[in-house]
Amino acid sequence: MIILGIETSCDETSVALVVDGREVLSNVIASSKEAFAALAGVIPEEAARRQAECMIPVLREALHEADTPLKEVDAIAVTQGPGLLGSLLVGTATARALSFAWGTSLVGVHHTLGHLSSPWLEPPGLDADDEGAPFQFPILTLSASGGHTDLWYRLSHTRGLLLSRTRDDAAGEAFDKGASILGLPYPGGPSIAAAAENGDPTSYAFPLPLRGEKTLDFSFSGLKTSLKYLLRDKPNARKDITNVAASYQKAICAHLLDRVGRALDLHGDVTELHIVGGVAANMYLRKQAEALCAARGITLRHPLSIAFCTDNAAMVAAAGYFTLTENGADAIVPFGTSASFPLEQTLQAASV
Ligand code: KG4
Ligand code: ZN
Repeated sequence: MIILGIETSCDETSVALVVDGREVLSNVIASSKEAFAALAGVIPEEAARRQAECMIPVLREALHEADTPLKEVDAIAVTQGPGLLGSLLVGTATARALSFAWGTSLVGVHHTLGHLSSPWLEPPGLDADDEGAPFQFPILTLSASGGHTDLWYRLSHTRGLLLSRTRDDAAGEAFDKGASILGLPYPGGPSIAAAAENGDPTSYAFPLPLRGEKTLDFSFSGLKTSLKYLLRDKPNARKDITNVAASYQKAICAHLLDRVGRALDLHGDVTELHIVGGVAANMYLRKQAEALCAARGITLRHPLSIAFCTDNAAMVAAAGYFTLTENGADAIVPFGTSASFPLEQTLQAASV
């Protein structure tokens, strides 16, 4: 089954064609991040304006790259939320128009379900040997991006439980706000990771958030405040950005993996840990997670390409496919476009 995915929830405009939720034929992403690099964030109206302008060229390129005739597209999947409303409307309006014009089924997808589906994606040209062992539920998924940080216990693609989420900032937001404090460009994750590359992560101590609390929740706003105080109280730290960035990155990752460890303690039947979302692109986090999984004898997976970590349409196409295969015709229902709506309502497993 070939699904055409559309993703426009933040500043990206992306269109992808994916076979059976795995084989990526094309995944074109136009980003306006560079335009916002100096601003420490995105201007929603400006992002939507740019998306309206590049939607059709991106669609054309994705179809051309996939070399797939329109009549072979079995369904369209589009991010219906959450995200920036103007941006989402560009994607959903395009998807509705294509569905009408082509007579093709249309599935609305929750953005986070897209991220949860991303480890299944295979980049074009992937060697069959690189596919690894078959996936095995139940899976613990850490989904960490600029908008959310959640832990999910999953029984299938569309059944599972939300174990916890952040009480304040998301992990990606902690990178973005930290970068802004350090005078590094937006988005903060890649710029802090680059600044930290030759740094010593033990140079500065940051408190582990929610230490001693039994909860699986996350909290990142205290780390950002600690960073502010560090620069205020130790003026020389401003000249030592490499070590500060490495220590701050370590603190964010330590908190993420501390909660993952607790969740694994509570759910002994889990044999796979998935790390998804923009923060899954972080190599330091991947290395630490590898050590954690090796110590527990479980499999670690993250998206096979960095382009599948940050927002992309291939993950939306995959989520659309899994929703259709698990829920059948029930998946094809009229849907709205919404800036915020909880995934746990649709993913909740009655039997857990
Ligand atoms: O998933 P995503 O593209 O968008 C949202 O759904 O929010 O994630 C973007 C977030 C940003 O906060 C960005 O700073 C972070 O992911 N990010 C990273 C890295 N690359 C992107 N964080 C840490 N390390 C990275 N290499
Ligand atoms: Zn995202």
